[in-house]
Amino acid sequence: MYTIEQTKKYQAETVELLKTAGKKISAKELQHLKEVLRFHEHRYYILSDPLISDFEYDQLFKTLERTEAEHPDWITADSPTQRVAAGITTNFVTVEHLVPMLSLENSYNADDLLDWDRKARELSKLTEVEYCVEPKFDGASISLIYENDLFTRGATRGDGVHGELITTNLKQIRSIPLSAAFSRYGIQQIEIRGEVLINKDNFKKFNEKLAEQNLPPLANPRNAASGTLRIKDPKEVGKRNLEAFLYHVSDYSLISGKKADTALQSHAGCLQMLWDLGFRSPVKEKKVIKGIQGVIDYCIDYEAERDKLPYEIDGMVIKVNDINIQDRLGMTTHHPRWAIAYKFKARQATSILKNVEFQVGRTGSITPVAKIEPVPIGGVTVGSISLHNEDFIREKDIRIGDSVLVERAGDVIPYIVKSLPELRKNNVKPIVFPTNCPVCGDKLYKPEGEAVWRCPNMNCKAQVVERIIHFTSKDAMDIRGLGEANIRNFFELGWLTDVPSIYTLPYDQMAKLEGMGAKSVNNLKEAIEKSKSQPVHRLINALGIRYVGETTAKVLARTVTHLSDLRDYSIENLLQIEDVGAKVAESIYQFFHNPDNIKMIERLEALGLTLKRSGISEITGNLSNLTFLFTGTLTKLKRTAAEELVEKNGGKLLSGVSSKLNYLVVGDDAGSKLEKARKIPSINIIDEDAFIKMTGYGIL
Ligand code: IVH
Repeated sequence: MYTIEQTKKYQAETVELLKTAGKKISAKELQHLKEVLRFHEHRYYILSDPLISDFEYDQLFKTLERTEAEHPDWITADSPTQRVAAGITTNFVTVEHLVPMLSLENSYNADDLLDWDRKARELSKLTEVEYCVEPKFDGASISLIYENDLFTRGATRGDGVHGELITTNLKQIRSIPLSAAFSRYGIQQIEIRGEVLINKDNFKKFNEKLAEQNLPPLANPRNAASGTLRIKDPKEVGKRNLEAFLYHVSDYSLISGKKADTALQSHAGCLQMLWDLGFRSPVKEKKVIKGIQGVIDYCIDYEAERDKLPYEIDGMVIKVNDINIQDRLGMTTHHPRWAIAYKFKARQATSILKNVEFQVGRTGSITPVAKIEPVPIGGVTVGSISLHNEDFIREKDIRIGDSVLVERAGDVIPYIVKSLPELRKNNVKPIVFPTNCPVCGDKLYKPEGEAVWRCPNMNCKAQVVERIIHFTSKDAMDIRGLGEANIRNFFELGWLTDVPSIYTLPYDQMAKLEGMGAKSVNNLKEAIEKSKSQPVHRLINALGIRYVGETTAKVLARTVTHLSDLRDYSIENLLQIEDVGAKVAESIYQFFHNPDNIKMIERLEALGLTLKRSGISEITGNLSNLTFLFTGTLTKLKRTAAEELVEKNGGKLLSGVSSKLNYLVVGDDAGSKLEKARKIPSINIIDEDAFIKMTGYGIL
C-alpha cells in the first residue's frame, strides 16, 4: 500500500514530528501528523511490522490529541483519534466484535500514573479511587463469545472492530473451557477478552525444534503465539501448548427475568467469576488497591520479579475496579478512560550493525556474529548478537551499516528482529560469508539439507579450545576456576592441547604465572581432581557429542554400565534407547567409531576419570513428575546437591514460583519466593528434613 519512497518520507517526517512533542504545531503540521500516524497504524496493525516503538507512537498520538483539544475546529472525520484503526489481513473469515476491542493508553513512570489518577478522581468526583492492578500479558489478544453456557465463537483482535474467526484453533487451547456455567450468574450471552501466550519453556523448546530443522528461531513468544493462532491446521495448534489468560468482560446480556449477579459489579468480581467458571483469569496475580501510590509500588515490585515468571509480560494494567465508575468515566474513541497500561522498560532498541565476525564452534559450525553499536536493553548493554546462519541473514536482508531492531526478551538471548531497509543509506555493504575457516583456513563445507557451514578440521584450534571450554562448563564436568580466559591462555602456552591434557597441567609452572597465586593454583588443582569422580552422565555430556545434551546423556548413562560399552552399540541398538531418534543414534555411532575419540576416552580412564555407572542405582524415581524449587539457606545439604537429588529421583526443578510448582523447599532466611508461594494454595511448602525424607535418602 505504501511505496518505499512514501515509507522513507513518512519515516523522515516522524523524526521531525517527534521533536514537536509538548510544543504547539500548525494546522499544516497537524495534517502531516495525521498522515504519519495512519502510516504507522498500517505498519503495526496490517503489516505487523512497526517502524517505531510504542512510546514514540504514543508521543505522536498525544501531540495530535492535545492539538485537537486546543483547536476543536481542526478535527476531521478521518483523524486517527476519530476511529479505531481500520483494515485487517483476510486469511480467515472476518467477524465483528460485539464491542470494539480498544487499545489502552500507555504510561511509563510514576508521574504518568499520578496524572492519570488525578483525571480519574476529577471525572469520578471521588477523593480516592479503588483500582485493580494485574499483569499486562505479552501475547496475542482474543475475544470469546459464550452463549447458553457454550463457547460459540472466538476471534483475533484484528483491527479492533473486526477480527478473524479462529474458534477451532482456540478450542485447541486447554485453558479455554468449551462450556462454562454463565447461566449461574444470570448470563445468556457474554463476550470476554484475553491474551493467548506461549510460556518461556515451550517457546524455547519450539525454537530448539526449529533449529533442529535448520530453521531460524522466532523472535519472541508474542510472535510465536500470534503466528500459531493463524495456523490453518488446528492439530498443529494443539501441539504448541498455548495458554490463555482471560481478563475482561466486554459485553453480556441477561437471561430474561434474571438480574445481573453482584460479581459483575466490579472488575475483581468479574475475574473471580471467570476463575470460578474454569477460566485462567489473573485472580492470583491481581491486586485491588485504594489510591494510586499503592498501585505505583505494586507495578515497581512486579517489574523486579518479571524475569521469574514463566511467561512474558510487558507491563501492568491498572483498571478502575467499580464497573459503575468505569461507566461514568467512559472512553475516548481510542481507549477507555478507566484503564491504563504501565509499560515496563523496553526490551527492544534500534542500533547500527557495524561488522560481522565468524565464530567456529566445538563441532566446527561457523556462526556469524553481529557486532552492533552497543545499546542498553532492559538493563543490559548488548553489543554482540548471533545471526545463526547464512539463510537467516539472507531472509532478513541484513547488511553491514544497516539499522537493526534488537530484542532481548526475558531470559531469551538477544536477537535481531529485523533490519530496517527503509532507513538504509547508500553506504551499506552485503555480508560476505567466508569460504575458508577463519581460524585454520581449511575449506568450509555445508552438509546437504543443513543451513550451517562447517570447518572439517577436528584439530582446528578453535574447535579444540571450544571443546575444552564445553568439557569444563557448569552443566558438564563443572571445573570451577578453569574458565574461558584460563583455557585460552593455557592453550597458547601449549599446556592444553586436547581434553585429556586438562588432567596433566603443569601446576609448578602455573604458580609462576602473573596473577596466579599458590592458593588459586591449589584450588584449581583440587577442582580438576574432584571432577574425576563426576558421575558418568556429566562426562557423556562433556564429550560434546553432537545432539547429545544433558537429558540424552542421562539416558545413556542409565543404559550402559561402562562408557566404552557404547562402542559395541549398533545404530539399531541405539534406536532402542528411549528418546534416541535416527539423527542422535547416527551421531553417537559415529562418535564411538572414531579412533581419535576412543583414544581420548581410554586416556581419560587411565587418568582416573569415572567411566562406570556407580554400583547402586541413584534413581529411586520417588519424585517423578513433581516440581521443586529451593529458597533460603539449606543446612544439611548443599543447594546444588539438593537440586541434583531432585533430578536423580525423577523430579524437575523450576526457576520461579508459579502454579506449576508442587514443592517449595524452605531453608533459613527465605524471602520473597516463600511469600509468593503462600499465595498459591496448590504449592506444598516443606522444610529440608521433609524434603530429604521424600527422596528416600533418610541417611543423609
Ligand atoms: S484490558 C478495554 N488487561 O494489551 C480494555 N488488556 O495495549 C481491554 N493486554 O489490546 C484491555 N494484558 O491485548 C487488558 N490484563 C490485561 C491485559 C491487556 C494484555 C493487552 C490487550 C490490549 C492491549 C492494549
